[in-house]
Amino acid sequence: MIHKGEKVVDNAILERTGFIDSPVDPSLDLFEEIRKLKKEKNAVILAHYYQDGEIQDIADYIGDSLGLAQNAAKTTADLIVFAGVHFMAETAKILNPHKKVIMPDSKAGCSLADSCPPILFKKFIEAHPGHTVISYINCTAEIKALSDIICTSSNAVKIVESISKDQPIIFAPDKNLGRYIEKKTGRKMVLWDGSCMVHEIFSLEKITKLKHRHPHAKVIAHPECEEPVLAIADFIGSTTGLLKYTINDNCNEFIVVTETGIIHQMQKDSPHKTFIPAPPDNLCACNDCPHMKRNTLEKLYNCMLYELPEINIAEPTISQARKSIQRMLDISAAAGL
Ligand code: 13P
Ligand code: SF4
Repeated sequence: MIHKGEKVVDNAILERTGFIDSPVDPSLDLFEEIRKLKKEKNAVILAHYYQDGEIQDIADYIGDSLGLAQNAAKTTADLIVFAGVHFMAETAKILNPHKKVIMPDSKAGCSLADSCPPILFKKFIEAHPGHTVISYINCTAEIKALSDIICTSSNAVKIVESISKDQPIIFAPDKNLGRYIEKKTGRKMVLWDGSCMVHEIFSLEKITKLKHRHPHAKVIAHPECEEPVLAIADFIGSTTGLLKYTINDNCNEFIVVTETGIIHQMQKDSPHKTFIPAPPDNLCACNDCPHMKRNTLEKLYNCMLYELPEINIAEPTISQARKSIQRMLDISAAAGL
């Protein structure tokens, strides 16, 4: 166990010592300790809906990728603690180059971001000259730096519509979201062949059976899901979009086709409603994102105590990536999102 005051020099040592997994004194009230650290360090905790319920409960702000980026852009805190995956913490750093951004576990990655290596993407762009490059926020800082505009699942349609109709577009890295936007906008785009390991695992057959057993339930799905699953959904939206739908719709039962973490918030907001997680195409709990679930309350506490692991992005990547994110934030603000 590493004790308070013991010096941890940098992220490399942190990775080697496995510090992040070091046991925390079980007698500590972690909620209280984290609250104290938050005040002491003027820190803000931003968390995604796919985090464990207890992390969501201690966060200052919980949201979808757009909400998280907007909150990161306007925070007055000195220390940004990002409970989510690596590309999200990177986005917060890109928007706050002079602030310290930390996350509970820097190994919390994303299969979708991994599906788009910068070297190959650069060649892909070169093979399609004259195209505007729109990248889904689920990508690395390097991909953001290679892109013209970033989008999230809640503003992707508006972002694509902001580009003149005769301008060709490359859309990366999620082909499922890309196809969904093509359908919504009637625009053909050049799609990168990437996908999310969690959203492509849902079983159409099992969801259909579930629908028969729950005839009054509505199917709500994230646009990262494959086309046949989206085709049977009553509503498609970002995590915030799905949450709002369950609050405002008068249906009492929902089959939720996205990562299970969102159900914590849905149940909190509508305690009288029933939320059924959609089954994956096998027997494991593959509808839990293994990357998101790397973060725990213990790791959150350790990371706030030692202010590690820290996100660092070198120039010129950070400045180039900021331009494409800022363009997204400006278009979203103009669209009232
Ligand atoms: P949103 O919360 O923006 O809908 O994104 C979901 C997701 O896959 C995050 O990794
Ligand atoms: Fe990435 Fe999918 Fe996990 Fe989201 S749910 S962080 S897209 S692997």
